[in-house]
Amino acid sequence: MKLGSDDSKADALPGSRLRERIADEVRRHGPIPFSRYMELCLYEPDLGYYSRAREQFGRAGDFYTSSDVHAVFGRLLARQFEEMWRALDSPERIDVIELGPGRGLFARDVLDWSAKQFPAFACVLHYALVEQSPHLRETLQERLAEHIAAGKCEVFDSLESAASLASNRIVIFGNEFFDALPVEVIDYRGALRVGFESGRIIETFVAPSAAEVEFLDRYSVHPEEGERVEAPLASLGWMDRIANVFQNRRGFLVLIDYGYTREEQLAGRHRDTVMSYRQHTAGTSPYQAPGEQDITAHVNFTALRARAIDRGLGPLALLTQSQFLIGIGEETQFADAFQDCRLPQERAKVALQLKHLIAPAGMGETFQVLLMSHNVAQEKAARLGGLKLAH
Ligand SMILES: C[S@@+](CC[C@H](N)C(=O)[O-])C[C@H]1O[C@@H](n2cnc3c(N)ncnc32)[C@H](O)[C@@H]1O
Repeated sequence: MKLGSDDSKADALPGSRLRERIADEVRRHGPIPFSRYMELCLYEPDLGYYSRAREQFGRAGDFYTSSDVHAVFGRLLARQFEEMWRALDSPERIDVIELGPGRGLFARDVLDWSAKQFPAFACVLHYALVEQSPHLRETLQERLAEHIAAGKCEVFDSLESAASLASNRIVIFGNEFFDALPVEVIDYRGALRVGFESGRIIETFVAPSAAEVEFLDRYSVHPEEGERVEAPLASLGWMDRIANVFQNRRGFLVLIDYGYTREEQLAGRHRDTVMSYRQHTAGTSPYQAPGEQDITAHVNFTALRARAIDRGLGPLALLTQSQFLIGIGEETQFADAFQDCRLPQERAKVALQLKHLIAPAGMGETFQVLLMSHNVAQEKAARLGGLKLAH
């Protein structure tokens, strides 16, 4: 739903109700972990940023994701999924499970392009969308109505329900999914708690838990004077659930997000990556307008990869979105982008959009791709286009 100016006035109400909801929880339990604050702000039923019927994405919303830039993002991934299907010996059915699909532009692009360009793959492809927001699930039902009616696509509210219907050849995909999961914040003064004082949100600190300390020891760094870092414990839980789905199945995991490695943190970068976004402007305070702005944290790829390996997945690569997309598209000279263009002006416009997805100054190096596999022969996996530029 698109918000007009009148709707946004009416929307002030859920914001203050959410504030009251948070204050109430603090009154009852004392200051809450930052992760709980983030969870309430983003996902509290009817009130959280993603749970409310409002436009979060694209021009009318607060931020753009790759599928807002151009359909070529989904089309290149369709090409990659088709290769994955062949690497899995072209089974009679393959399930792509997408985590946090939002409003479904990516799924639409993958399904439409597969039908047009890769008919054999499209015939065996089943697409499952795992979205927690009831409002976004409705949007998905509408946007993908044709594919749903054709029995090619289904919408679920949990990974486990999607997995219960999936075949034993799968691809699990997520774009900007892990950055939307609640994180613990560990400040140099201790683990952050969010409280209320005289009607204002305040920060307090407690000794970090054993799990938080272990996370920093293994995958991150301890904050120095004046610093804070995140301990995304929920993302480890998610990786465990993903690995469970791969038990007794073969396939690939493709996670795309902005993030960092522990090596980069050791070099002094990526401390305090919690960000908020409202109307295409990045803010630094997650405490402004709870429920009305997006809150994200960069993804710790070292932790995700290590946890996936611990749970039995095989690492293929961690590479930039630029390397990944060029690897997939260069052999066909990015025909997936230009095929529909009739006029030179159209080609020029699409070339700019493609450049934005690939160029280091655009999304090309901010975003990274973590590729893992389960029970796939190494030599087959190594032939994937997306891995061509991986070192
Ligand atoms: C930043 S948005 C990304 C949307 C989409 N992938 C894109 O690239 O445009 C994160 C999405 O993950 C969803 N999400 C967050 N936690 C989830 C959970 N536990 N289960 C399913 N979806 C979740 C949110 O509702 C939201 O749609």
